Amino acid sequence: MKNKKYALVIGGTGMLAQVCHALVNDYYYVSVIGRSTIRQQQLKDSSNEPDKFHGIEVDYHDDGRFRQQLQKAFQAFGTPDLVVSWIHGSAPQALDSLIDEITRINKTKTWKLFHVQSSSRFFEKENTPVPENCQYRRVYLGFILNDSTSRWLTHKEISDGVIRAIHADQTESVVGTLEPWDKRP
Ligand SMILES: NC(=O)c1ccc[n+]([C@@H]2O[C@H](COP(=O)([O-])OP(=O)(O)OC[C@H]3O[C@@H](n4cnc5c(N)ncnc54)[C@H](OP(=O)(O)O)[C@@H]3O)[C@@H](O)[C@H]2O)c1
Repeated sequence: MKNKKYALVIGGTGMLAQVCHALVNDYYYVSVIGRSTIRQQQLKDSSNEPDKFHGIEVDYHDDGRFRQQLQKAFQAFGTPDLVVSWIHGSAPQALDSLIDEITRINKTKTWKLFHVQSSSRFFEKENTPVPENCQYRRVYLGFILNDSTSRWLTHKEISDGVIRAIHADQTESVVGTLEPWDKRP
């Protein structure tokens, strides 16, 4: 494990499932955070390499248990080289807790954080404090604008866009478009 790449995907059993598969194809061992055992199993079952997945079944609203589960994973696999985070706005402390738990163990090794955020966050331009050894990347989810109509992104478009962002390694990217904002669905 020590010489392999390790990724953690928060919310990886949902619309980011294809991101998890892409990371496994890219030789990562992937820990996936989500509450449901069934969704974790479905993710593994849809892979040719189920042994490359490690499910962390925890609710990120429960900060104590969330931190405890992260510690367990980091003891087993080391701290992640790459984190993809999709956390609902109802758990504003969860990302800070994750960064804190990584930093307690790893203060020097460079790691990347791809922070996936919904459309409305684009206009808030919030500041996410990260330690010096964390390379922070923000990915906003937008919408698809056709001639006179618009629609929200499909799961495939979201995953494809996040995978592109990881490969391109841009500081900030938008999946679909966010402008003109008044044309959103
Ligand atoms: N364009 C946009 O701005 C935009 C933004 C957001 C969403 N969307 C759309 O909205 C839809 C719904 O989004 P969604 O986030 O509900 O979809 P989702 O990605 O299918 O589900 C959320 C993911 O986070 C996990 N999760 C949720 N709550 C959790 C918790 N409390 N603790 C730990 N893990 C948790 C879920 O697993 P468990 O259920 O197992 O916990 C799942 O892996 C998506 O299909 C997307 O198309 C669009």
